[in-house]
Amino acid sequence: MRGEALAQEVLRLKRERNAVILAHSYQLPEVQEVADFVGDSLGLAREAQRTRAEVIVFCGVHFMAETAAILNPEKTVLLPDLEAGCSLADSLRPEDVLAWKAKHPDGIVVAYVNTKAEVKALADVCVTSANAVEVVSRLPQDRPIYFVPDMFLGAHVARVTGRRLDLFPGECHVHAGIREEHLKALLEAHPGAEFLIHPECGCGSGCLYLKPDAKMLSTEGMVRYAKGAEAREFVVATEVGILHRLKKEAPEKAFFPVKPDAVCEYMKRITLEKVYLSLKEMRHVVRVPEEVARRARRALEAMVAVG
Ligand code: 13P
Ligand code: SF4
Repeated sequence: MRGEALAQEVLRLKRERNAVILAHSYQLPEVQEVADFVGDSLGLAREAQRTRAEVIVFCGVHFMAETAAILNPEKTVLLPDLEAGCSLADSLRPEDVLAWKAKHPDGIVVAYVNTKAEVKALADVCVTSANAVEVVSRLPQDRPIYFVPDMFLGAHVARVTGRRLDLFPGECHVHAGIREEHLKALLEAHPGAEFLIHPECGCGSGCLYLKPDAKMLSTEGMVRYAKGAEAREFVVATEVGILHRLKKEAPEKAFFPVKPDAVCEYMKRITLEKVYLSLKEMRHVVRVPEEVARRARRALEAMVAVG
C-alpha cells in the first residue's frame, strides 16, 4: 500500500483505535497531512494533555512522546519508531544535573523540553523555545540558575532576560550546523526579507549584528509570524521540515532556508508506513516509570501553564 491508499488506511485505523495523531512541524509532509494537530513542542504537549482520545500516536521524537506519556498517563502513547531520538536530549545525563545541584543547593534547574524524562525529574521547571524567556524572567532574582542542555537557546534567554545563567554546553547537531557563513549571502540576496531564526541555531544571538531585527521564534512562532507579517519574503533558519507548513499556511509568500540540508534524521525516521504499522500493531508503547513521571510532571505542568 502506498500514497493515498495508505493515508486512507491510517485514517480508518485511527478512528477504529480512538486515536489522535500529533505531529511536529519537522515531520515528513505526508505524515503532517494525516495528523489531527501539527505544532511545536509546547503546542504538542498541550494537545497531548487535553486529548480525550485513548491512544496518542506521536509523530515526533522520543522525548516528545515521553512528555505526552507523563502529562497524560491514562493514555497509550505510541512512537512509530523507537530510534527517533534527539542528539540534544542525549547530550545531557542526570549525573550532570546532580553535580551542579551538589554545588548549588539553592539553585534552580531549568530544563529545555528536549531532555530525557530522568533529567526532567530533577528539574524545577521545563521550558520550550516558545516560552523559555517568559519562564526564566519570572524566576527569583537571588538564586543561581542552571539552564540545560542547549547553550544557544540559553544564551538567547540570558541576553533577552538580562539574567545570569549557568549553561550546559549542549547543542542540536542540526541547528548548531546553521552558521554565520550560510546566512550572509542569503540575507544579501533578499534584502527585503524578514529573518526568522530558531534559538537553537549556531547562528543565534552572535549573528544578530547581520540583521538586528531578526525574529527568534519556535517553529510554531515562525508559522504564526509569517502568516501575520506584511513581508512577502522570509529567510528561515531551522530544520527544513518547517517549509511544508510555512508554504501551506502562507502560500502567497516565499521562504528561503538558510541551510537546505538542515535535516533532522531522527524526525525523518517517522514514515507514513510506520504510522500505519504503529496503529495496526499498537507499537511502540512509550512508558515512563511512575516514580520518574511523578517528579517530571511537576516541571512539565509548570511549563505548559506559561506562554
Ligand atoms: P520547537 O519546540 O520550536 O518546535 O522545537 C523543537 C525542536 O526539536 C527543535 O529542534
Ligand atoms: Fe533534537 Fe535537533 Fe532533531 Fe530537534 S532538530 S529533534 S533538537 S536533533
